[in-house]
This record gives sequence, structure tokens and C-alpha cells, in this order.
Amino acid sequence: MKKQYYITTPLYYVNAAPHIGHSYTQIASDAIARFLRQNEHDVFFMTGTDEHGEKIEKASIESGRPKGSEKDFVDSIIPRFKDLWKKLNIEYDYFIRTTDKLHEDTVKDVLAKLYKKGDVYKKNYNGLFCTPCEMFWPHTQAPSGLCPDCARPLEKLNEENYFFKMGSYQNNLIDIIEKDGIVIKPSMRKNEVLSFLKGNTLQDLCISRPRERLSWGIELPFDRNFVCYVWVDALINYISGAGYLNDKKRFQTLWPCDMHIIGKDILRHHAIYWPIMLIALGVKPPKSVFAHGWWVVGDEKMSKSKGNVVDPYYLLDQKGYNVDAFRYFLLSHVPFGWDGSFSEGLLVEKYNTDLANDLGNLLNRTLTMVEKYFAGEIPSVRHPATGNRQQEEKKLQEEIRDLADNLADKVKKAMDIEKEGPNFQLALNAIWELVNKANKYIEVSAPWKYAKESNKDALSVIMDTLMQTLGVITGLLYPFMPSTASKMYRQLGRKEDIAKVKYKEIRWGMIAPGTRVDKGQPLFPRINTE
Ligand code: MSP
Repeated sequence: MKKQYYITTPLYYVNAAPHIGHSYTQIASDAIARFLRQNEHDVFFMTGTDEHGEKIEKASIESGRPKGSEKDFVDSIIPRFKDLWKKLNIEYDYFIRTTDKLHEDTVKDVLAKLYKKGDVYKKNYNGLFCTPCEMFWPHTQAPSGLCPDCARPLEKLNEENYFFKMGSYQNNLIDIIEKDGIVIKPSMRKNEVLSFLKGNTLQDLCISRPRERLSWGIELPFDRNFVCYVWVDALINYISGAGYLNDKKRFQTLWPCDMHIIGKDILRHHAIYWPIMLIALGVKPPKSVFAHGWWVVGDEKMSKSKGNVVDPYYLLDQKGYNVDAFRYFLLSHVPFGWDGSFSEGLLVEKYNTDLANDLGNLLNRTLTMVEKYFAGEIPSVRHPATGNRQQEEKKLQEEIRDLADNLADKVKKAMDIEKEGPNFQLALNAIWELVNKANKYIEVSAPWKYAKESNKDALSVIMDTLMQTLGVITGLLYPFMPSTASKMYRQLGRKEDIAKVKYKEIRWGMIAPGTRVDKGQPLFPRINTE
């Protein structure tokens, strides 16, 4: 039986169009999902949008719509997200919106249960609130009056609200995290969460907003005068989309969720608030949470006011960058979990070296030679005469074979989904080690010299080595660069859909002799930087 794997992304706020940060979470999650599908997991990959709360209400009004038209507003933004995910080849299984009826009903059901259990109570709240982060801060945690997360001025709030008794579950959660009942990755993030939990007394969480101040939210099932705090609403998506309310059987197979992929800024919500809500509800916490780093520009945070937000639509549509070059750059530039600095210059530089020079050239040169020397048909290996020159080639050829035979294991180890990983950078570096070795092999063996001597035997060995190498590279590249891998596969002469090739089938020999290559156009023409 296939192993079930449930992976989620955060739900993106729809107050503005998606940017490179959102794309990063999507691309990383998509690469994991594709890798797991190759490894014969039955993956359920869910993403979606966070559509309630003050931020969205404000954006709706700023778009010129009257109060009460928020649904219209969010509906108008959703295509920006869905279209971009399509462009980026994000193959999710389900798109959840917090305005979906099923989700709203699930939120009400959860709140009613917590209320009935006595975990929710009403009191006067006198503290601070950050609208951009949708976060409450007690005076003690924000003595400067600025948001500890985003450093923007906080609003004073003094009003009656409902609270969730988070504090009573603090020790229970510490125990779970220490025993890796929830694996928080990378481990520095686990330490961060534990030191926060050990060094602070958890405040009870304000879970409501009075309707008179904010009407764009899900009504509390036990008090019509209040709507649900947007973070509580949004976190519940992870169970509502898995069938918590409407499909118990499905929920049992999917839950606990295997991995929540998030950015480091929302770690506390996912590693503290969310597990505690679940424990209170009598539902198991998620198995793991991976917090990735942030993309900055230069060393500055992206923000609308600074005008430095990197727009993926601009890069893909206006500048015409190859979508897989974008995916490759984001996945390989920094280890997953670390911050990265984005610049178009770096993207082009990496494109020209790794994709145009290394991968593109290897593919293009190999296909050209198979066309030229064997009329486009992959030759069977013949045994060349031995001599000094062949000895040197043979050594290199053996090294290539050895690298290729071990590459699938190496990539799997770098992905290390069950433990510390994934580390996309390590996985891609391992693939490029083989790409570079194969390019070196072409230079050392200089097939054109054999061609001059009409030495078909020697040529057959070289072409077969290169074709088998490319087969392995293509199969292993698929999760990270799916459309490139799919094109490469066709160019290598394989007709079936690469998405259906299993991980265990990616090996030396997968490109059979007699196959006709289909050279096509170079995949990564050099970008002129002058
Ligand atoms: N709506 C909440 C999440 C609720 S999940 C139940 C939210 N939305 S967000 O749109 O602001 O951010 C969504 C994700 O994008 C977060 O994981 C965040 O870390 C990520 N990124 C936003 N800007 C980013 C960068 N500049 N770089 C990398 N990722 C960043 O938070």
C-alpha cells in the first residue's frame, strides 16, 4: 500500500498580489510533493488563501469597494494566486479558501467545542495590537509600543473579547516538542521555540474581535456580537481541508499532517498556538513543521512602501525568465531554512553558469553528437580497442558510472524528509556534480577526434555513457525542475510522462539503445549580460 503523506503551505493573505516569498514556499512544497510522489507516496498537497480579518477588510475598502463587499474583493484577487501557481507548475491537490462554507463550518464547530469544554472565556482586553501582523501583544512583551515582529507602531486596544486558555497547555507542549512529537525543523527553530516556551508564561490567546470594529470574519457560534480572530480561523484550515468535519474516514488517514511548510515569521503560530489548539480539541498535533528563511533584497526586507517587492509575474512574463530557472535559483541558492538575498543579476549569473553552460550544454552537445555520429539513434555499446587514451577515458567513465549509480541515494539523503531535511541545495549540488563530470568527460574523450578516425566503437561507448548519465540526471531533476525534466525526457527519446517514472526506475540503463533522440531547441540559451 502507498504511504499517505499530507503536506501543507500557509494560506496566503489576499490583501495584495503574491510575491517571491509566497512563490518560494510554494516551489519548495511542490518539490517535496513531487519527490514523494516519485517515491510512491500518496501525497495530499494543500494550499490556499487567508481571506478574513482587518487587513483584508482594509484592502477591500482601499480598492474602492464599499464595506460589505469584501467577498467580491477577495474573489478578484484569487486568480492572481492561482494563475501564478499554474505558471510555476505548482501541482497542489486542493486549494482551500477560508471563505469556503466547509471551512467556516469547521471553524464554528471547533470554537463551539473549545467553548463547551471551558477553554474559552470572556474578559476585558487591555493591550496592544499589530494590524499588519494581525497579532495581539501584551504591554509586557512590547514595552516600546512597537510590534516585536515587524517593528511597526502598535494600536492600543481596550475591549471585551474571548480568550483561549493557552497557558494551561504550556508544559504539555514543551514535553511533546522535546520528545519530537512535533519535529520542528531546522533544529535551530526547535531550540528557538523551546527557549521561548521555557522562558515565558504563555498568555491566553485573544480569539475574537467585536463585530462593531470588524465584521469581516467568521461569527463566533456562541456570541453573534463577535467574529473569530483571523489566525485562529486560518490555522483550522489544516484540519477542515482534511475532512475533520465532513469526512471522518479521510481525516483519519490524513491526520496528523506530515509536514507544515511555513516561513520563519509564522513559526510561533504553527509550533505553539496551533498544536495547543489541537491538544485542547483532543486531536494529535502535526508530525512536523519546517520553517524556511526569508528572501530579502540586498539586506532589506521587501515592502510595498520601499517599492522593492520582487514580483514573480514581472520576472516570468515581462522579463521572460524560464520558470525552472526561477525554481532552480530559489531552491539552490541557499540551504532550505536559511535567509537568501535575491537579485536579478544573481539569477542571470546562475542561469548562465549552471543552466546554460553546464546542464544545457551537456544535453545539447550530447544530442548533437548522437544525431551526427549515429543518425539520431542511441547506439548499443561496442567494445573499443584499448590503448592509453582509452584507459584515461575509462577511468573517468567509471567515475561517472559510480556517481550516477549512487546519485538517487545521495539525493534522497539530501532530501531527508523524515529527519532534518529537505536540503534542496545539497540535492541539486549532488546532481550538478554529475553534470560537471559528464562535461569533463566530453572534453577529455573528445568524441570528434574519434569521429575523424571513424572509430564507431569508441564513439558508442561515449554516447551510451552520456545518454545514461542524462537519463539519471533528468529523472532526479524532475521534482525541482519539472517542465525542464519533462522536455529533456522527450529529447532523450522517451515517450512516456516523466511524472509517472518511479524513483526506483531512475537508473543507468533507463535509456535503451535503439531509441531515437529528438534534439529540439536548446533549453537554456545564454542570456547576454552586456
Ligand atoms: N496568512 C498567514 C498564514 C496563515 S497559515 C494558517 C500569512 N500569510 S502571508 O501571506 O503573510 O505569508 C505567507 C507565507 O509567505 C509565510 O510562510 C511567509 O513566511 C512567506 N513569506 C512572506 N514573505 C516572505 C519573504 N520575503 N521570503 C520568504 N518567505 C516569506 O502569514
